[in-house]
Amino acid sequence: MHFAPFVCIGILLLPWFPCTWEKCIFDQVQRSIKVVSPPSGQYASAHWPLPRQRPKRAEKNAESMAVPQPIRIKVWIPSESPALSDWERERLMTAVDEAVSEVSSLLSVRRVPDSLLLNRDINKYCKFIWRNSSTVNNMKCGRAKENYRFESCFGVNIPDEHLNGCAVYPHPEHPVPTVLRPEGTGVPDTDFLLYVFTHSTDKCKAESSILAYAAHCQADSEGRPLAGTMVICREPLRMERYTHERYVQTVIHELFHVLGFSKELFSRWKDCSLSSQAVVDCWPYGQVISTDEMGQFRLYSPTVIRAMQKHLNSTHDDLGAPLENKDVGSDGLSSHWEARVLQGSIMAALLVEPSLIRIDPITLAALQDTGWYSVNFSRAQSLVWGEGEGSQFGSLSTCHNSSTFFCTDSALGCHYLHFHKGECLTDPYLDGCHVFKPLANTSECWIKENERSGMNEESGEIYGSDSRCFISNLTRPNHSPSSHVSAAGHCYRHRCTGRNKYQIQVKDSDWLDCPAGKSVEVSGYQGFIFCPDNRLCKYSDLAPPTSRQKADNLLNISISIKSDHDVKEKDASPHHNLVPLSSVTVSKPEIIVAAVLSIMGAFSLLSAAALIYRKCSSARVRVHAANEPPYRSQFQGTDGKTKHGQ
Ligand SMILES: *[C@@H]1O[C@H](CO)[C@@H](O)[C@H](O)[C@H]1NC(C)=O
Ligand SMILES: *[C@@H]1O[C@H](CO)[C@@H](O)[C@H](O)[C@H]1NC(C)=O
Ligand SMILES: *[C@@H]1O[C@H](CO)[C@@H](O)[C@H](O)[C@H]1NC(C)=O
Ligand SMILES: *[C@@H]1O[C@H](CO)[C@@H](O)[C@H](O)[C@H]1NC(C)=O
Ligand SMILES: *[C@@H]1O[C@H](CO)[C@@H](O)[C@H](O)[C@H]1NC(C)=O
Ligand SMILES: *[C@@H]1O[C@H](CO)[C@@H](O)[C@H](O)[C@H]1NC(C)=O
Ligand SMILES: [Zn+2]
Repeated sequence: MHFAPFVCIGILLLPWFPCTWEKCIFDQVQRSIKVVSPPSGQYASAHWPLPRQRPKRAEKNAESMAVPQPIRIKVWIPSESPALSDWERERLMTAVDEAVSEVSSLLSVRRVPDSLLLNRDINKYCKFIWRNSSTVNNMKCGRAKENYRFESCFGVNIPDEHLNGCAVYPHPEHPVPTVLRPEGTGVPDTDFLLYVFTHSTDKCKAESSILAYAAHCQADSEGRPLAGTMVICREPLRMERYTHERYVQTVIHELFHVLGFSKELFSRWKDCSLSSQAVVDCWPYGQVISTDEMGQFRLYSPTVIRAMQKHLNSTHDDLGAPLENKDVGSDGLSSHWEARVLQGSIMAALLVEPSLIRIDPITLAALQDTGWYSVNFSRAQSLVWGEGEGSQFGSLSTCHNSSTFFCTDSALGCHYLHFHKGECLTDPYLDGCHVFKPLANTSECWIKENERSGMNEESGEIYGSDSRCFISNLTRPNHSPSSHVSAAGHCYRHRCTGRNKYQIQVKDSDWLDCPAGKSVEVSGYQGFIFCPDNRLCKYSDLAPPTSRQKADNLLNISISIKSDHDVKEKDASPHHNLVPLSSVTVSKPEIIVAAVLSIMGAFSLLSAAALIYRKCSSARVRVHAANEPPYRSQFQGTDGKTKHGQ
């Protein structure tokens, strides 16, 4: 609620000003849901053996023991959904489809055999249950509730064909039931059923920065979520400024929640040896949530701890992943990562500009540790934030020291991914720590059009798809020679010459080596350029949005980049103003208008332009890109998902 003043000011000044962040209300909604499980014995966890004993469970179902395969998430639009325009439906479904296929490329499950059938809540249809162990119908329903109509999932009526049947046993000893509802046919080839409901709900109206929210409502006997509802807020769906990429990210984020990344489910996570696929043994971790010495809740599950150790380059053997301490319920828990430590993760509480969000290894480790999924870690995206910084990274005691990730008040610099010029700011989730956030307008070094906004002539800036942000105080000597120029973020071209090795080019200069972690002078200029260490030419899966579109296409022609350690050292020739710029030019007037409106509006237009561009010219991209090894060496992504309908 510290946010209220910001929001109000924003609304007062610019009623149409879109939030540049998006809040997630998952915890709020999931808490209100009663999750329905199979009638026999609620959650199986109640019957689990003690940890580490690992007795073999009876072979009950050969198929459930099978090798995990990509999760099949079926999307179902409830009949009560309002009519959408073709355009709205198209954008909704393409985003949901893309998110679903991304998630199923990441997560595998032991598939549901045949058809998925959801359960009815016995407390809903049954007035009383026979309870006499010496009678035939012990624990069966004796009488139906007269007003029983349907099952629902977070407000959506579940069709009868998705549900198990139900029956009542009017006499305690008479085994023949009266069928109340026949058995449904189920949903074939489905491991998770997602009801997608578009509506302008009160929650949507209350918080304009919400695009969607979700909750799960059904689980199997192991506790794995089987079905959930995602509410897509109606109003934002009409607005072009919310980009396709933003919707995809939002849907993935909410899907991760409903599939298991939920504080309501942490206690049900269990250790399953999915690797030995012949027999599946699971045993509960016991407590995976605990506080650290600073009183912050952390998630301590084995894969998460290993992922944190690897990420922070720490051997600290008790390094859990910290949970957000803002917007928490009375239990103090959140289903999001702490923003100071895992900034930029898809599971951080604020969803920011999509190109800056990463599906990171720690989030995937958490999904692995649910015990329900087998995760394809080769598809993880490098988080970058905090990498190799040690176990104290992001703590309140160290974040106020200026570092390459944190900054101190009111400085100008670069966003840590170096695509954007940045301003040192905080937000409610950062607990007073400051980071460089993209400037409100024209902050993207990779957008050629930003060059014309002036103010960059004397510092020799060059914008374009291969430009990145560098902190510098470079000036032309003839420009106010006496005054001291303070350092700020500036855009210069770069090209990779190796891993963490690159050259830069300033206006009217040659290509110069820019040794990572050092500063360089440029002839014809006064001042220095600081060359960032471990940011540029290190991660093959980092690219500005326009380039990423190309990277996607590159994937289709099968290139063998497997990890972010695979930077090609050769052929580091510069790539001149890349083709996406032509599409930007087409919508230039709109972009300038959008830049005035907001950074997000600008992003939406650019992404739209990029999408149109991609749709129209993938062949050209391929030819162009195929001739440019350095391009793929830096920009080739693991996020090269295949797109539907292309
Ligand atoms: C349970 O059922 C048996 C057999 O019908 C009956 O004799 C007994 O009284 C019942 N017990 C209770 C507590 O109702
Ligand atoms: C994991 O993802 C990679 C890259 O998409 C793919 O090549 C590989 O086959 C996947 N592995 C499994 C086990 O699905
Ligand atoms: C990790 O830390 C060790 C020692 O603290 C250091 O020698 C090593 O270079 C670091 N590795 C990375 C990848 O930063
Ligand atoms: C960070 O700042 C604190 C004081 O504000 C100081 O004690 C500590 O040594 C600093 N840490 C580093 C790594 O510079
Ligand atoms: C640039 O910054 C350096 C280091 O802070 C300083 O020594 C130098 O005078 C500055 N140059 C200009 C032109 O302001
Ligand atoms: C960008 O924002 C600054 C103030 O933050 C403003 O002066 C400038 O006119 C804006 N530029 C554009 C192109 O909107
Ligand atoms: Zn969330």
